[in-house]
Amino acid sequence: MPDPQREESHGFSRVEDVNVVPDRDEESNEDGESDNQQPRLAELREVETVYGPAEDSRLLAEAVLEHVSAEDAVLDVGTGSGYVGVRLQSEAGVFVVGSDLNPDACRQAADSGLRVVRADMFEPFRDGSFDVVCCNPPYLPTPPEREWDDPMERALSGGPDGRAVVDPFLAGVGRVLKPDGEGFLLISTLTGPDEVRETATAHGLETSVVAEESHPFERLLVLRLQQRG
Ligand SMILES: C[S@@+](CC[C@H](N)C(=O)[O-])C[C@H]1O[C@@H](n2cnc3c(N)ncnc32)[C@H](O)[C@@H]1O
Repeated sequence: MPDPQREESHGFSRVEDVNVVPDRDEESNEDGESDNQQPRLAELREVETVYGPAEDSRLLAEAVLEHVSAEDAVLDVGTGSGYVGVRLQSEAGVFVVGSDLNPDACRQAADSGLRVVRADMFEPFRDGSFDVVCCNPPYLPTPPEREWDDPMERALSGGPDGRAVVDPFLAGVGRVLKPDGEGFLLISTLTGPDEVRETATAHGLETSVVAEESHPFERLLVLRLQQRG
């Protein structure tokens, strides 16, 4: 049951304040056309529109579970299906909000029992609101000619260097974290871990690797981010 006082303290309790989970009919009509009469490409292609939980989702969830306590308020940025947030909510009893740009992801996460705000990363949230912010971002380097104009592009493509979403995450996470709060960011060896750590340092964040796992073409890492002094 959502706690209105806790939601108010994070800055998003009034539905008119933010772009909350859209109605199921808001995005397209029965013919798969959006309000501006453009067909939704993902629907026409009959491809999945929400990232299904995978090894990266599990690694992030388990790493964060080791570092949260029941009193914590957590933001799961790019929540997708809501898998990470729901695990934190149900296994650690923490207060979790998920955010995602993709309306289909917002609906799926909300259907899984998560509080969800449709948002570009941290945009609607107040300064210093969260003890923990976690994110499994789109991190795969993707040449522009391989990009797709559909929600899965948003879920997977990290742009040419893999850091198109990682870099703004590092630039903005300190604003919404409490002074002693922590961030947890899933990256891959394909994302350029040295460059990611350099960017984090430039934004006043100390980094440490708290979980790692090897896969055939990459090694997944969970970086813990702590604000310096
Ligand atoms: C790799 S998926 C991870 C989904 C889920 N957290 C998981 O671990 O299974 C990345 C998610 O980030 C979302 N996303 C991409 N850019 C975003 C942004 N700027 N703000 C919010 N969500 C974003 C995508 O829509 C997608 O759902």
